[in-house]
Amino acid sequence: MARIAVIGPGAVGGTVAAWLAQDPDHELQLCVRTPFEALIVDTPHGRIGARPAIVTDPADAAPADWVLVATKTYDAAGAARWFPGLLGPQTQVGILQNGVEHVERFLPWLERDRIVPAVVDIPAEREAPGRIAQRMPGTIVVPAGDAGGRFAALFEKTRLAVSTTDDFETALWRKLAINSAGGVNAVVMRPSEVASDEAIAGLMRDLVAECVAVGRAEGATLDDDLGDQVIGHYRSMPGDSVNSIYADRLAGRPTEVDARNRVVARIGLRHDIAAPLNDLMATLIDAASHSDR
Ligand SMILES: NC(=O)c1ccc[n+]([C@@H]2O[C@H](COP(=O)([O-])OP(=O)(O)OC[C@H]3O[C@@H](n4cnc5c(N)ncnc54)[C@H](OP(=O)(O)O)[C@@H]3O)[C@@H](O)[C@H]2O)c1
Repeated sequence: MARIAVIGPGAVGGTVAAWLAQDPDHELQLCVRTPFEALIVDTPHGRIGARPAIVTDPADAAPADWVLVATKTYDAAGAARWFPGLLGPQTQVGILQNGVEHVERFLPWLERDRIVPAVVDIPAEREAPGRIAQRMPGTIVVPAGDAGGRFAALFEKTRLAVSTTDDFETALWRKLAINSAGGVNAVVMRPSEVASDEAIAGLMRDLVAECVAVGRAEGATLDDDLGDQVIGHYRSMPGDSVNSIYADRLAGRPTEVDARNRVVARIGLRHDIAAPLNDLMATLIDAASHSDR
């Protein structure tokens, strides 16, 4: 039996929690900010539901074997308020967030060995607290090794494809390349169809090229034509698909632009590699999202 706590059961955390709850060997605890009665997730494999323990106050959290953090990147400090009640000596913490700084982001509160960073590809939207639509089959990738293997084993009885990789750096930066290009949607406030505009596709390619340069300096193995692959990805999606940074702007929420665009410039500085386009995107999205709120 594994005791699993999910901090932030929104689109990703709620989907993951609902799948994990289908395994009778798991005992789920949801650490929530906005309470709800039950999880209902419409998945590509049908509707699944769960009624796990729901905790709203960090003082009421019970120790867990695994803690999965699925808040937005900018809510890391709020997520960390749950750790004292959840962590025992052996507890591992999976970080299910975007960006490439999963470990660094949580080092103020956690020992490095506890942290299992995860690249998540689970297209999902929260329709109401506890109500989620998982749009497509989901995958999660974690680093190979003992902790990564045990993380993947948690999902054996779910329909999420969870795997380990010997080259996690590459997995991180490939995902970041997609997200960095997606900042364009949040600036022009248009869904995926905007990638069919050749000028926009050119800008997306240039954003990805900055990511490739910085990612390679960090040790990732990235294809020369990753920009074309990213454009192909956006063009293959239904034209009205809304990525999460655009969705955040539409909803007047803060965005994860620091973790998706500014990070490229920030890490680039360590290697004397300029990433002015990603920096510009971050400046524009930050300014625009302040006026949204
Ligand atoms: N959605 C996707 O398709 C997708 C795909 C891949 C990766 N990701 C990444 O996954 C991460 C999570 O994104 P998401 O889309 O799942 O976000 P989300 O739907 O906004 O869910 C985040 C959840 O965290 C909760 N939360 C915030 N602070 C909290 C706190 N202190 N204690 C407890 N709960 C707290 C929020 O509570 P409230 O209910 O009060 O807001 C919300 O339920 C992000 O890094 C995102 O980039 C998302």
